[in-house]
Order: sequence, then structure tokens, then C-alpha cells
Amino acid sequence: MTARLTPTSSLRSELPNGFYLGNVVPGAGHLLGGSLADKDGGSKPTVRPTGDDIFVSAALLRQAKKDGTLGDLISGLTTDAKDIPALPVTDEVRNEAETLEHLTAKQFNSLTPENQGKWQEIAPARNQFHFSEMDGLLDFAKENGQRVRGHCLLWHNQNPQWLRDMFEEGAATDEELRAVLVQHINHVVGRYKGHIAQWDVANEIFNEDGSVRVGNPWIDRFGLEIIAEALRLAHQADPNCQLYLNDYNVESINAKSDAYYELSKELLAAGVPLHGFGIQGHLALQYGYPNDMRENMARFTALGLGVEITELDIRIFVDENDEARIPEDLDTQAEWYARVISDALAVPGVTGVTIWGVADSYSWIPSLFKGEGAALLFDDNLAPKQAYAAVSGALGAPAGG
Ligand code: XIL
Repeated sequence: MTARLTPTSSLRSELPNGFYLGNVVPGAGHLLGGSLADKDGGSKPTVRPTGDDIFVSAALLRQAKKDGTLGDLISGLTTDAKDIPALPVTDEVRNEAETLEHLTAKQFNSLTPENQGKWQEIAPARNQFHFSEMDGLLDFAKENGQRVRGHCLLWHNQNPQWLRDMFEEGAATDEELRAVLVQHINHVVGRYKGHIAQWDVANEIFNEDGSVRVGNPWIDRFGLEIIAEALRLAHQADPNCQLYLNDYNVESINAKSDAYYELSKELLAAGVPLHGFGIQGHLALQYGYPNDMRENMARFTALGLGVEITELDIRIFVDENDEARIPEDLDTQAEWYARVISDALAVPGVTGVTIWGVADSYSWIPSLFKGEGAALLFDDNLAPKQAYAAVSGALGAPAGG
């Protein structure tokens, strides 16, 4: 069941002052939720459409997937940085792209690059930066009066091969590696100084039991101290940017969020420029709603940090057509969306909620969680779901309830 959008419906027009409702711009080699993407982080070619704007590229690839020509497209790729010249921009594709673009501009007042800011995408070769997609996103945001969140500087995923090679034993000295970090942060954060409001400086650095995750090359090599260093570097590059730590499964008070709480306290006590905690919010009905999210957010804001939900999606079980197996799940999902918005509005110092994708057809969920999907506000045809109305209702409702 889908609702109708009136020509004037706009979530961003319902927001209280100073509160951001964000979404992502799909991008780079990872359109369609990563189904085209290199799964092991940079060694294989990715689709990097450069021929037209990003919304057209995304719609084209989705069309190819529907038509069953996506496989040919992928297997035909032999190099990085590919156009997709063989695919015609039909009226259908153009329409879809325009709708997606329109929804992105009209419904949300904050944007995050879904992949365009990740190390692999922004620095695919050593000493070479690929800024065009981020620049395009920044231009789009400026035209539409939207804030931008930067994502992300240090992560264990989506690192380029050249960087991973440098971490091989004996390949580079600590000094050389630190120079790479300095260069990256200076170039990337510095380029967008004054234009990116928040950066996720470190992404996903703890395990569920609160131990430090193994596999982030920077932390494996230098320990957690490198996080403080990255924060200081980012602060030097853009002193007004709010610098965040960001992770999933930290909605509740648990061992993992405790680890962030302790680290945040230590960093702040040491005078390290840390300004916020990002709670990704990749929720699934099967695991239950994080009832203590308000309490958890409040303990971070009590430290003086900002808090945002940075990657919200609420996945349900779907059939092979990506449709809800249990239709009522769409109602429960809508209730959960409303709860997240109310929780965020209820805690002073929580400044925004970003949803990780506009429409189900562009979501990363089905490619990573088999049998799950339909996690967003708009369906495969870009029509608003119950969740859309629920978010609208929660924005209009007084906080606290
Ligand atoms: C995901 C993107 O949505 C996909 O397109 C990509 O293939 C993989 O990464 N946590 C994060 C995000 O911090 O960067 C991830 O984004 C989703 C999980």
C-alpha cells in the first residue's frame, strides 16, 4: 500500500529549527546498494559513471538491473573509471532520475555521500584525488540549501588497494604512513572547509563486546592513539567542522556504546577535538526496538557532544521481489520510524536524523542482508510508504511523547 504525495508535501518544511533530516546521494562505484561494488575493498574494477549526473547514472543502472543487462555491463568492465555509454537514457530512466533528484532536494535538508567520500572513492590512486563526485554533491546541496555530513575518514572498509599495500609488513615506515594520513585529511577536509558541517572521522572502530576492532589498518598499526591524531588533523584543516565517531549497534546502552562513551570521555579530557557521536541506526524489526535509545543519547549529550542518527534504515523480511513478506511489517516499520524521530527530538543536543537511502530500490540492504529489505521511506516505484506519513506525523507532534 502506498500513500499519495501532495504536490506540496515536504518533510524538510516540517522540521523544528536547527534540526536536520538527511539522506544520502548514491554514488561512485557503489550504486544500487553495492551490488556493483567491489566486495573486498578496491582490487577489482568498479562502475564509476561519469557521463551524466549522479541521479541519471543511478537510474540507468537500476534500469539495467531490471532489464537483466547489468551482468553484461559488469563483466564488460576491465578498468577503473568507466563511463556507461552503452546504456540509453530512455524517458523512463530520465523520469526516475528526476523523481529521485526531486525527492532528495525537497524532502531533506542534509545530505551525506553514500560512498563518494570514502577513501577508495576519493583517492583511488596514490597522490591522486577524485573529487568530482563530492564536488557535484556539494554543488547540489548548495543549490538546494542543504547541509552536508562528510563520511568517512578512517574505516576498515572501502580502502584503496594502494593504501592497503602500504600496510603490508615492511612496505612503509610509520613516518611514511603518517604522512599519508596528514595528506589525506588535509586535502579532503581542507578542500571542503566551511562547506561540510560534520565529518565522521572514525567509523566502526569497536566490536560488539567493546574491544577494539581488528582490521582497521590505521588502528592495527598505531593503536587507538591514531584516532586522536586524526581528530586533531581534521580540526586543523577545518576548525569549525564538527568531528564525529560513528558506528552501528550503538543505539542502546551496551558494551559497544559503553566503549564509545569511555573513549569520548578520555578524548575530551585530553582536549582532543571531538564534537559528536553518530549512531548509524541500521535497525531490523526482528531484533526489536532499542527502547533505551533516548537514555543512551542523553549520556553522550551530557558529555557536551552532539548526537545524530546518521544512517537510519529499518529492514524487514522481503520476498524475491523485495516486497514485504508480512504486509503488517510496513505498519510496524512506520511506527518505528516515528519513534526514532520522536526519540531524537526529545533529547536536547540531538541535532539530526539521516536516512540511508531515499527509495527501497536504491538501498544497500538487499545486497548485504539476503531476504531483507524494503527499509526506507519510499518504495521501488519512488512512492511514499506508510513510513513517510509516520515521519511527517512525528515531526509535527510535540516531542516527548
Ligand atoms: C554502504 C553503502 O550504502 C553501500 O553502497 C556500499 O557498497 C557499502 O557501504 N555503515 C556505513 C556505511 O558506515 O558507509 C555503509 O554504506 C553502510 C554501513
